[in-house]
Amino acid sequence: MPPAPDQSSNSGSISLSDTSDRPFELMEVIEISRSEIEVVCDMERVVCDRDGAVAILDRVPTDDGPMPTLPRDQRIVITIDGPAGTGKSSVARSLAKALGLDFLDTGAMYRAAAALAIDHGVASTDAEGVVRETTAADLHFDWTKDPPTILAFGKPIDHRIRAADVAEIVSPIATIKSLREHMVRKQRIIAQQHPRLVTEGRDQGSIVFPDAAVKFYLDASPDVRARRRAEQLMASGHCADLGAITSEILDRDKRDSSRADGPLICPKDAICVDTSDLAFDQVVKTLHRHVLAVVGR
Ligand code: DC
Repeated sequence: MPPAPDQSSNSGSISLSDTSDRPFELMEVIEISRSEIEVVCDMERVVCDRDGAVAILDRVPTDDGPMPTLPRDQRIVITIDGPAGTGKSSVARSLAKALGLDFLDTGAMYRAAAALAIDHGVASTDAEGVVRETTAADLHFDWTKDPPTILAFGKPIDHRIRAADVAEIVSPIATIKSLREHMVRKQRIIAQQHPRLVTEGRDQGSIVFPDAAVKFYLDASPDVRARRRAEQLMASGHCADLGAITSEILDRDKRDSSRADGPLICPKDAICVDTSDLAFDQVVKTLHRHVLAVVGR
């Protein structure tokens, strides 16, 4: 059993010492079953009986504290949606790693469809042709790689999907209704095969996994997102025009949020996190903490 709390404490914050010497904070007092207690303990939280109630104590986050993984038999889908430039992919990947879950990049699937259209001479307006090529390519991921690489016709196409010509047409491609239906089906099959999953995109919490255990929506101001994109471009040796990048981001936001199928929205039951003023690690720790709080409940 975990250590007992300091009974002399009568404030909302209870100090305990354990082997890590990190303090605990009283989160809430709730009814909880014995089996749930075991799960909560597994997650490095502490539960103890107190006058017939149960107190959940959570470690106060510190910058260098470990982020516990979820129990290995825990099936869970966590969705992260939001516009481009909020750091979704990197955050989702880090969160998945910290929790011991798989990571799905659904943007890669739409990018793959765009790359296939270009490489097979199909116009982005030819919905039937785009779906035909995408279906024939049998898109799937190689889960032995970290992050998983996307394969078309059994071959990795990771580099191809990041090219400029693909970036140019992927947003209109992603408006094709029948393509979205195909991708939604594929993503649900992936979740059946990988039932411990952090998945990121635009419609993951709203359309694809409406019953996800935890949903996040990451946002940041267009200026911040444009600056991040410009820094990425300059780091890879490209020129960056901040004004042009900002207007491109605004255009894409408008297109992604106004399309008829799977528009970018913040699901009602999502936890919204504005990453504008947060460092990467702070975002990951914030999400991680939310997941443990929800799962512990
Ligand atoms: O996240 P990303 O930049 O790799 O996404 C590429 C494009 O695909 C972008 O225009 C948004 C779109 N997309 C989508 O419509 N639905 C998703 N679930 C994921 C991405």
